[in-house]
Amino acid sequence: MADIDTWIVACSTDDLDPGSGLKIAGTCPPIAVFNVEGEYFAIDDTCSHAEYSLSEGYVDGDTVECELHFATFSVRTGEALTAPATDPVGTYPVRLEDGHIHVAAAQRCVIARSRI
Ligand code: FES
Repeated sequence: MADIDTWIVACSTDDLDPGSGLKIAGTCPPIAVFNVEGEYFAIDDTCSHAEYSLSEGYVDGDTVECELHFATFSVRTGEALTAPATDPVGTYPVRLEDGHIHVAAAQRCVIARSRI
C-alpha cells in the first residue's frame, strides 16, 4: 500500500455505477476508483505493463481488464492476475462519507485537489 497522509474526495457515489471505474483528476500518479457492487476500491490508474489507463478498462466482478493488451488486475489487492502484466499496481484505502468516496493518498501525489 502506498504512503498515506491525506484524504481526497474522489467523487460522489452517484458518479460511479456498479461495475465501473473512474480516474480521479489531480493525482500523480493517477488513481482510479472502482465500484464492485457497492464496495469501492482505489488502485493506481496506470497499468503496470505499458502505462495505459485502467479506468478505461472492462470491470468484471472485482477485476479490471486493461483495454490495451488485456492484462487483468484485482481491484481489491492490485495484483496482476494475467499476462502480459506481471507487476502489481498500488492500492489505496477508501472510505465513504456523506455520499462521497474518499481515497487516502500520499500528500506528494495530490497536485490539484482540495485536502480534507
Ligand atoms: S498496457 Fe495494460 S496490458 Fe498492456
